[in-house]
Amino acid sequence: MKPVRVGLLGLGTVGGGVVNVLSRNAKEIARRAGREIEVIHAAARRLDAPRICDTTGIRLTTDPLEVVNNPDVDVVVELIGGVQPALSLVARALELGKPVVTANKALIAKEGAEIFRLAHARGVQVAFEAAVAGGIPIIKAIREGLAGNRIEWLAGIINGTGNFILTEMRDKGRDFADVLAEAQRLGYAEADPTFDVEGVDAAHKLTILAAIAFGMPLRFDAVGMEGISRITREDVAYAEELGYRIKHLGIARRRENGVELRVHPTLIPERRLIANVDGVKNAVLVMGDAVGPTLYYGAGAGAEPTASAVVADLVDVVRTLTADPDHRVPHLAFQPDQLDDLPVLPMGEVETAYYLRLAAADQPGVLADVTRILADAGISIEAIIQKEAAEDVAVVPVIILTHRVREADMMSAIARIEALPAIEGEVTRIRMEALS
Ligand code: HSE
Repeated sequence: MKPVRVGLLGLGTVGGGVVNVLSRNAKEIARRAGREIEVIHAAARRLDAPRICDTTGIRLTTDPLEVVNNPDVDVVVELIGGVQPALSLVARALELGKPVVTANKALIAKEGAEIFRLAHARGVQVAFEAAVAGGIPIIKAIREGLAGNRIEWLAGIINGTGNFILTEMRDKGRDFADVLAEAQRLGYAEADPTFDVEGVDAAHKLTILAAIAFGMPLRFDAVGMEGISRITREDVAYAEELGYRIKHLGIARRRENGVELRVHPTLIPERRLIANVDGVKNAVLVMGDAVGPTLYYGAGAGAEPTASAVVADLVDVVRTLTADPDHRVPHLAFQPDQLDDLPVLPMGEVETAYYLRLAAADQPGVLADVTRILADAGISIEAIIQKEAAEDVAVVPVIILTHRVREADMMSAIARIEALPAIEGEVTRIRMEALS
């Protein structure tokens, strides 16, 4: 059989990784797919940029539309990232009846419904395993491997750059900005690195995971989002002293009246496996009613780990090029007419435990005032420690761990605590999850 001819949009870190993996493992891949897979045409922003791959035999252009429109291209692989022009290019490929493989989480999270509608109308496949958790086949695991379960919740470290920063801050006491610059050099970070540190990238990925886990529409707009930029080295150290690690988690949890969708820094008991996932590694913990907890771990970013997922999707596409379209796995795991429009609970309704750090004047009665405010709000305390004051400083850090509480109740208690004259500045609050 003739090889399947691929058009590549984007020849950066992931594009280069895809070319390398396809060429190094060509024989093995062809044995799996049933056809050889060959990159024939690729679009790059700059033709003279240094590359991690050999582009001999690949026609190069700066115009991605030329690749999509090339009649010799059978499958389009979109690795440009961002919503536009990726959306127009993917839409054009689908209109031409060409299957699309993409690693673009922003595109799927925000425009997935439109893309799937187009794909359905034309009976062509769109595959996006690389969009979530890099090389971990988490979409396939939830969509297919756990298809017999009712998924209760999932929680994941789904941004490699953020996890790399938190790990380096904890282990080596390194500076936030310095570690971020290294993540950029290594090709882990987004084109706009604020997407990594402010939680946007994790929110894109959580949107996709929740849709696949619960059979709900893609609701990026409803994700409660917080990044790691306000986490200090002191918080990391205090959390450790109390037996916790701080990780940036994406959490989707079923509740009786809807679902919680949120990404934020989270204290996790240090004995949990997921608390020990370090560096650029990702991990996703999925709780199914039949299987119980399952954990998926691996590299969440980088050239070849992400290429591993892209190439796996290419193999799937090649295998199904001749299959009956009605019997393919649905994009969001559930049949499109079977999506359940679950309400996403506002962040005020979310329930978590909390780590609070406050700067209190070292004088009698302050702690009593703080604990009274918490008690009045029905918030129960799990642990409390008062640290030594730094030299020449009149306030002492006080760390409080609470039991689970409605976020709205915690926020109003925090506002009352911040209004006490003996409390200086804002209260730092980080949510805690036992994940048991
Ligand atoms: N910037 C992303 C991360 C790349 O660090 O996880 C992989 O999606």
